[in-house]
Amino acid sequence: MSKKIGILTSGGDCQGLNAAIRAVAKALYEEYGNDVEIYGILDGYSGLINGEYKKMKPDDFSGILTLGGTILGTSRRPYKLMRVIEEDGIDKVKAMKDTYNKLKLDCLIILGGNGTHKTANLLSEEGLNIITLPKTIDNDIYGTDITFGFQSACDIATDVIDRIHSTAYSHKRVFIIEVMGHKVGWLNLYAGIAGGADVILIPEIPYNIDKIAEVIDKRIKNGKRFTIIAAAEGIKSEAESKMSKKEYKAYLASLKNPSVAFRLSDELGKITQCETRPVVLGHFQRGGSPCSFDRILCTQLGMAAVKLIKEENYGNMVGVHNGNFVPVPLKEVAGKLKQVPVDGELIQGLKDMGISFGV
Ligand code: F6P
Repeated sequence: MSKKIGILTSGGDCQGLNAAIRAVAKALYEEYGNDVEIYGILDGYSGLINGEYKKMKPDDFSGILTLGGTILGTSRRPYKLMRVIEEDGIDKVKAMKDTYNKLKLDCLIILGGNGTHKTANLLSEEGLNIITLPKTIDNDIYGTDITFGFQSACDIATDVIDRIHSTAYSHKRVFIIEVMGHKVGWLNLYAGIAGGADVILIPEIPYNIDKIAEVIDKRIKNGKRFTIIAAAEGIKSEAESKMSKKEYKAYLASLKNPSVAFRLSDELGKITQCETRPVVLGHFQRGGSPCSFDRILCTQLGMAAVKLIKEENYGNMVGVHNGNFVPVPLKEVAGKLKQVPVDGELIQGLKDMGISFGV
């Protein structure tokens, strides 16, 4: 039986998107041969709304296993506005359904993170056949042990922390390295562990600047020449964490430099009298080729997605549970966040070996 499958990548890009797209395509061609048509929806949900797509050929999927970014393009579309008719007068939900129906798709495969999954669930509830794959460097998608992109970004952040060690030692400096992660700290936690950071600050644990200064002082007293602080971009001080959303937004807008690395660098420099330096990794973390772990993960996720298509088991994300690839209902994934368990064994164990979380 012939199949028409759409593929769409949405939200912030990361390594492995093309590797996953390739795996889906290869498995589909192998299963259905000439009886499958694959449509690439361009630039995320924008392409689905505006009817911008491309009929793909097998050649389009060649040589992309190692390619960074996404051959389909991506965009961020706030979920909150999906049902809101804006100035352009477009009913976005209807427009997405129209594109799906016009192409007579049997299934739309969506590769994305948290925001993407809310809209994917919406489309599933609207009756479209949806399968998703968990993508994000943040590793914060509920219902899966791991997301693709995370390990590649972690390797890059780890490499930066490694390299900063030598220059920090030479100059007797305190470095604050800002790693991505607004709401969750998985990436910074793992890169911080792998890179041997002395202080690891994550959004789940509000920090106390005086406690960080104490760590620096203690290290100096113990004859250490430098201190490495890995800070997730979304960390808040204890006082900031007590602000309402509105107050915090206004507070950030009032700052000369909202980057946490720069703020901490200034504050810690004043308190400790040490020479401090901020390093902001930014989008470096999402660029370039996927690491081998992500290439393998994406290949397995793509294969699992096609298995679900064969079974017509729609309305699911492919999740990874203890090494198995399992369908997880989209309604269980959408709107939830997988945070670092602050009372878990890992954090406690790290504290027990002297790593500070700034508290
Ligand atoms: O969600 C992935 C992520 O890279 C976050 O870690 C980061 O805070 C955000 O995207 C950056 O978004 P943008 O690419 O829109 O600047």
